[in-house]
Amino acid sequence: MNVPFLDLSRQNRALREEILAAIAATYDASRFCLGDDVFRFETAFARLAGAEDAVAVNSGTSALHLVARALEIGPDDEVVVPAFTFIASAWTASYVGARIRFADIEAETFTLDPSAFAAAITPRTKAVVVTHLFGQSARMDEILAVAAKHGVAVIEDCAQAHLATCDGRPVGLIGDAGTFSFYPTKNLGACGEGGLILSRRPEILETARALRVHGSTVRYRHDAVGYNYRMEGFQGAALGVKLKRLEAWTARRRAIARRYLAELSLPDLVLPVVPERGESVYHQFTIRHPRRDALRAHLQARGIGTDIIYPIPLHLQPCFAGLGHARGDFPVAEAAADTVLSLPIFPELTDEEVGCVIESVNAFQ
Ligand SMILES: Cc1ncc(COP(=O)(O)O)c(C=O)c1O
Repeated sequence: MNVPFLDLSRQNRALREEILAAIAATYDASRFCLGDDVFRFETAFARLAGAEDAVAVNSGTSALHLVARALEIGPDDEVVVPAFTFIASAWTASYVGARIRFADIEAETFTLDPSAFAAAITPRTKAVVVTHLFGQSARMDEILAVAAKHGVAVIEDCAQAHLATCDGRPVGLIGDAGTFSFYPTKNLGACGEGGLILSRRPEILETARALRVHGSTVRYRHDAVGYNYRMEGFQGAALGVKLKRLEAWTARRRAIARRYLAELSLPDLVLPVVPERGESVYHQFTIRHPRRDALRAHLQARGIGTDIIYPIPLHLQPCFAGLGHARGDFPVAEAAADTVLSLPIFPELTDEEVGCVIESVNAFQ
């Protein structure tokens, strides 16, 4: 049996009529850029995430950029970024000309290590980007304590963590601002690009709302240098349909993960831990193995799709060569990049397919 790493077409086929009808209504009303479909989605997402308000934009990367602008981060500032995350987390600093200070992650959950964060702080540190990687919330209580002590703003990158919580609090509302991505492969995926900002601080949302439309709140008056980061009407319409399923999809991801956790028994395999602060929403189910590449080849030979997310830690990316880092600087991030392997996990995966993945992993020699 072949098991794909991810098959988006299963979800898109199941929702075809409903999404096409929603998009057709948007088309008929010519609500192409922002518009009521987007505003309705903002309200619905905010409600589900436990927030009062939200600002939808055209990608998770744009959301991070707008938060950096709203926090007035600039060239004199430093931003702490985990050394193991998706590259866009680091663009938060790059796009506003700030200096990146990388910090290592915790081996157990692949999220920012609070003590490494504390050690990376200098008098110029203005913000930290905390990625809730693979759907697992970071250790927010300790991170917030460090940030408060040094007056550092906390940006939560929730691109992979829709509906995740930390000690009962929804991610995105714990720090100063949280950003989400609706890239099609995400737990909530658009039919194209999309992103969104949450914040407990209304002034951040107000600034972001203006910056996404050319820094304008009054037509043709521009109070700040802004961007065209509007979410498209079609995306708002499609996301509105999908949002109604997000809790059920998350439950299914967790059920698959629990089966993996209970039944994967290969020696030397390191499974994700489930910390008390909150169960992952399992954007990825990422295991580690000392012979990762051989395990991956074994699974591929059996028709099981896997992915290495991520093979290169950020401090070793060519685009950041100017920062002068070398191998050995962030050993936990490097070990993660060398040993991680993500297994298939998406809501439409069948029980039979999950069983096949488990059996194939356990058969590795
Ligand atoms: C952790 C993380 N941050 C940011 C992003 C950027 O989101 P987008 O692709 O919507 O720009 C992504 C996903 O691509 C991500 O996984």
